[in-house]
Amino acid sequence: MIREDFLWGGSIAAHQCEGSFDKDGKGIGIMDLVTSGSYEKPREICTEIDKNKFYPSHTGIDFYNRYKEDIKLFKEMGFKALRISIDWSRIYPNGDDETPNIKGLEYYKNLIDELIKNNIEPIVTLYHFEMPINLVNKYGSFENKKVVDLYLKYCETMFTLLKGKVKYWVTFNEMNHIDPQTEASDIFTYIIAGLKYSTMKEKKKTLATIGYNMTLAGVRAVNLGHKIDSSYKIGCVFGLTPVYPIDCNPKNVLNAFKEMDREFYQIDAMCNGKFPEYKLKQYKDLGIVLDITEEEKEEFKRGKIDFIGINYYSSSVAHHDNACNEEETLFGGIQNPYLEKSKWGWAIDPSGLRYLLNYVYRRYELPIIVTENGLGAIDKKDENGKIQDDYRIEYLNRHLIELKKAIEEDYVDCFGYLMWGPIDLVSATTGEMKKRYGFIYVNKHDDLTGDYKREKKRSFYWYKEVIKTNGESLT
Ligand code: BG6
Repeated sequence: MIREDFLWGGSIAAHQCEGSFDKDGKGIGIMDLVTSGSYEKPREICTEIDKNKFYPSHTGIDFYNRYKEDIKLFKEMGFKALRISIDWSRIYPNGDDETPNIKGLEYYKNLIDELIKNNIEPIVTLYHFEMPINLVNKYGSFENKKVVDLYLKYCETMFTLLKGKVKYWVTFNEMNHIDPQTEASDIFTYIIAGLKYSTMKEKKKTLATIGYNMTLAGVRAVNLGHKIDSSYKIGCVFGLTPVYPIDCNPKNVLNAFKEMDREFYQIDAMCNGKFPEYKLKQYKDLGIVLDITEEEKEEFKRGKIDFIGINYYSSSVAHHDNACNEEETLFGGIQNPYLEKSKWGWAIDPSGLRYLLNYVYRRYELPIIVTENGLGAIDKKDENGKIQDDYRIEYLNRHLIELKKAIEEDYVDCFGYLMWGPIDLVSATTGEMKKRYGFIYVNKHDDLTGDYKREKKRSFYWYKEVIKTNGESLT
């Protein structure tokens, strides 16, 4: 049985929904400089705002002004929890300001109060691709440990402000795609740390340093948060992709293991009380020696996370020795011939979720929450002006059945499921509005038309029933 207090709900991120990018003293964040793109055309990363270009974070879905209306709809669906992110650049507009921006603090305090008033548990991500650009320009982002200190100062402000209101905290969203062993795309390294892969002078060293420093920032935040309130549950969210071998050739099985394992070194560090020895040895082979102090080692020992957040969308297949002309997936790896894929090329693999939940739970034995899962699709209105998104229902239904099996048959300790994008919002990888995830339609389009009006899709009623029956309605 799914536990009675299971956290059914959804996840959103500030830069993808708030808009009002320059309102109430907000500074420019890294995502405020990224244009919209598409599956075919990558988003453009600018160094300053160009008035002739469109930056989707500037308007988002106007959640900044409409959050009360949206929370009312989440409440109507029966949400038990909503994961939001705080935009660092609303709190410290330049990242290194002496004092926080009062208007920014007020906004998040009001937002959290509104959730509590509606009996929705707030789950707060402190960093979901939202860094003041000044920290990149002035200090070189997380390559510089000064930025770790500034992140801690920002965390302290939020841990203190929201004490007694927020119980669940997430230090970082998906820092795990940073690894010096692989080539990266500009948008991925930029989204995570505000730096373009192609312009990094010493690519491997920079990626290793950022990967380490962000992990350090995460464990330091755990220690700090627990000091401020020992009842805080502080976790980290990882975007994980099961990687399958193409066949049972032992070489290919090993390749798949290695490809998948690359995304785990930070989870190892946050759960095992130390930055993994195997990683430091790999770095040494690459000629990279990180500057790690005794004090930092102590932080790792004490700073173990309380839970693991998993973002799951898709699985992939590892490359094999004779790979040629294979269709690549966004996260690396190749397409799986046994699986259908979404319009954006993401393989649809419900049992991959059960596999992953088992894998992560067996490895760390920590409580898990699914912090993101969903289908990005093009929604079209029918003749009555309604959206009958049966494809979305089917995707979520199949994934939730596997989640239930992981809990009920495999004994994975999973305490919540937060569907990604319960209301349509801007896509992170492509910047499009047309890649919609929501139960709630937002009348906003990539050609900049639309009045932001909210409308319920068929999936809205379906999810409401799932929550009401605590998953019993899943078939
Ligand atoms: C996750 C991110 O990796 O993927 C979200 O945490 C993102 O921010 C989600 O929106 C889906 O990706 P996309 O590109 O379809 O928005």
